[in-house]
Amino acid sequence: MKKITVTAPATVANLACGYDLLGLAVDSPVDTISIKETDSGKIRISSIECSDGKLPSDVDMNTAGIALASYMKENEIDIGLDISIDKGIPLSGGMGSSAASAVGAVFAAEKMFNKGNGMIEILSHALKAEMAVSGAGHADNAGPCLYGGITLVRSYSPLDIVQIPINIDIYITLVKPEIQVRTKDARSLIPENISISTTVAQSGNLAALIHGLHVSDLDIISNSMQDYIAEPVRSQLIPGYDKVKGAALNNRAFACNISGSGPTVFALSQSLEDANNIGDAMVKAFADQGGVSSLMYISKINTEGPKVI
Ligand code: HSE
Repeated sequence: MKKITVTAPATVANLACGYDLLGLAVDSPVDTISIKETDSGKIRISSIECSDGKLPSDVDMNTAGIALASYMKENEIDIGLDISIDKGIPLSGGMGSSAASAVGAVFAAEKMFNKGNGMIEILSHALKAEMAVSGAGHADNAGPCLYGGITLVRSYSPLDIVQIPINIDIYITLVKPEIQVRTKDARSLIPENISISTTVAQSGNLAALIHGLHVSDLDIISNSMQDYIAEPVRSQLIPGYDKVKGAALNNRAFACNISGSGPTVFALSQSLEDANNIGDAMVKAFADQGGVSSLMYISKINTEGPKVI
């Protein structure tokens, strides 16, 4: 009976000005997903290791199960599979946890069955899972998780992902306060309509950020990582957000914003020493908010995506 195990990376979606469009993969944390052939004739979730909460082991409610079932159906593969998931990525933290399990499961299946599915096909199965759990098939976590690096969703219909070149050597500090924010809830805060002036401001930043990444100009990147759509409303869900962001920027972060739908806050810097100092200052700023404890991750950009281990 065949078995395959893969890791799938956490991701920082939106990157401030690219709501539902831009995302970046990080080296850590990762989810580890195994799929194993069985003679049960069914897809089952056999084990979930998860340190910070409960995940459904019902295949129809778990993103790895939903995405894998979709892949198996589409590829007309009718055999039993057991999935085991080791959740390294915190749940409801804004680090693409649901996307990583979904991408990992489908990537593993394609490695096992070799059905010639391309990246867009793999991604589309993962997006069905995202749609099921967050009410939206946003691809700015699953995209960078699968492709690695920084990706832009050029179009959702048809789905089209553009990989952005990265020639910058940066560190990403991720600080996740102990609270959880469900993506669905955070999305419900986003205004249905935005004004022309907001659209112009946001588009200017998004275009400049892409240009800054192309020419590896950290000043342009720094100036353009401003968000007029999600941050103003979602920051209310994060205790002491302004102080946490201030702590990062005062400690040499060249950008800081909400990671995905939060509550994780990310900061970008140019050295490991800065990344650590920034993280310590952010953790302290959270602790100053009535003792909110937090987890810190420091990472480089992951350019590889999922990996067979
Ligand atoms: N773009 C999505 C959102 C990412 O901000 O809701 C969720 O992690």
